Amino acid sequence: KKRIAVFISGSGSNMLKLADACEAPAFPAEIVAVMSDKPEATGLTKAAARGIKTLSFPRKAYESKQDHEAAMLDALAEIQPDFICLAGFMRLLSGDFIRAWEGRIINIHPSLLPLFPGLNTHQRAIIAGMKVAGCTVHFVTEGMDEGPVIGQAVVPVLPGDDADALATRILTVEHQLYPAALERLAAGNVWMENGKAVFPGDATSKTTG
Ligand code: GAR
Repeated sequence: KKRIAVFISGSGSNMLKLADACEAPAFPAEIVAVMSDKPEATGLTKAAARGIKTLSFPRKAYESKQDHEAAMLDALAEIQPDFICLAGFMRLLSGDFIRAWEGRIINIHPSLLPLFPGLNTHQRAIIAGMKVAGCTVHFVTEGMDEGPVIGQAVVPVLPGDDADALATRILTVEHQLYPAALERLAAGNVWMENGKAVFPGDATSKTTG
């Protein structure tokens, strides 16, 4: 099984869905650590309750972003994951960090990227008058919420939706998409090459990503 470190900052509902999927004997991945920049993240308690190793790295315990990331990189060197899944990790990783883990970090973002990267994504989709919204799992590259797409899921935007209603609807499809994307990655059925996502056996792979 591929070894997975999950990075969270909050409630960790996506992390729990990944953990659920990993419990299936045939699933090609296992979660070996949940790491957070927020010691108070409720997801850490939920991970620990399932017997998953948890580590927290509060930003203010370190003098610089570089020191903070160095501590996380040291922990990763010890844990030796194959891949890192960002799951509601609300901190932008530096180019140095990302290059060290190039092609081995994936993220979930609650919009149909490249639309609406960054914060307040649901509100911005509503204000733009979108009739559909959704979520994206992608390889992490240096830009925020950029990088080749592994998978997406779509939901309708309904009349009267506020940001919370839309976020809730999108979260239900995040919970299906992220385990499916991780399965594909861990099974070797998608990888990043020359800045593109490669889907072996998929005739369209050369033009997407
Ligand atoms: C999820 O909606 C995730 O897509 C989003 O934060 C939420 C975390 O929820 N991530 C981002 O906005 C990253 N740019 P969770 O902690 O319950 O999984």
